Amino acid sequence: MNVAAQILAALRQQDGVSGADLALRFGMSRAAIWAHIEELRESGFEIEASPHRGYCLITAPDRLLADDLMARLGPMDVIGRDIRVFQETNSTNDVVEKLARDGVAEGVVVFAEAQSKGRGRLGRQWLSPAGKGLWFSILLRPDLRPQEATQLTVAAATAVARAIQQQTGVTPEIKWPNDLMIGSKKVCGILTELSAELDHVKYIILGIGVDVNLASDEFPSELGKIATSLRIATGRLIPRPELAAAILQELDREYARILRGEFTAVADEWAQRCTTLGQLVTIRLGDRALRGRAEALDESGALLLRTEHGRLERVIGGDVTVEK
Ligand code: BTN
Repeated sequence: MNVAAQILAALRQQDGVSGADLALRFGMSRAAIWAHIEELRESGFEIEASPHRGYCLITAPDRLLADDLMARLGPMDVIGRDIRVFQETNSTNDVVEKLARDGVAEGVVVFAEAQSKGRGRLGRQWLSPAGKGLWFSILLRPDLRPQEATQLTVAAATAVARAIQQQTGVTPEIKWPNDLMIGSKKVCGILTELSAELDHVKYIILGIGVDVNLASDEFPSELGKIATSLRIATGRLIPRPELAAAILQELDREYARILRGEFTAVADEWAQRCTTLGQLVTIRLGDRALRGRAEALDESGALLLRTEHGRLERVIGGDVTVEK
């Protein structure tokens, strides 16, 4: 963590810290501390300075700032050890892919306030207006076989659902494979991309998009019929940095469980939140359509579908429609 992030962490822990204390703690002059405080103020943090209490953090801006996010998180096992924020990029998945090819360590998270070419699954576009959502991607290098990569999508959907529930009180449901839904509308999507050799994963990019503070009239009309936001669902604006930190914390926890080989426990929670299991469904992938009952996830994270002919098919992707 850099000094600004450490100062923020100190201000969050204590209600009032003197410049002298901070100077001593970080081995710098009070003037240097003051310069960092000024920088934070310029980024939108309201920090009061009083002769008795010292510096107090009054409010934080609804902007994604790497220092602030790292200060909120504290030490993380893997996810969020390194956070980078762009004001605008094409797609955060592309930024992370470049980092992956450059050999950057796993756990780096790239956020963008806006994406000009946000993309969804199956070649779709992903609407990513500035300051309205959480658009971010994570680089992971797990020791998994390519067919086990779906475990991470399952873990991610569970982690994000849990964080949204903690922060907003709304409980999103999971629609297979990895959509988070509120009512019948989608609020979050996950795009998992991987680079692999025959028997092992080189790296995985988890791209996550959460519609946080979009108002109904900010969705194009067709999209508005199938998508929603946390703001629409709760009737209030949701502070994005708090939500982002909660999501990263849950993701780090779930990733550790996957690495410990505890996928079954992760899948159990996923199954409790999932509305697709047990239903008669049609899954479309390209021009193929499979119909059957969604029974369970297997140990690699694929969906087991009991077809009309009684066969059990493993399905790892597609568009699902639940039969009424
Ligand atoms: C889906 O189709 O449901 C997946 C949507 C994933 C969107 C996120 S936003 C951050 C990351 N960058 C992208 O271009 N896509 C993912």
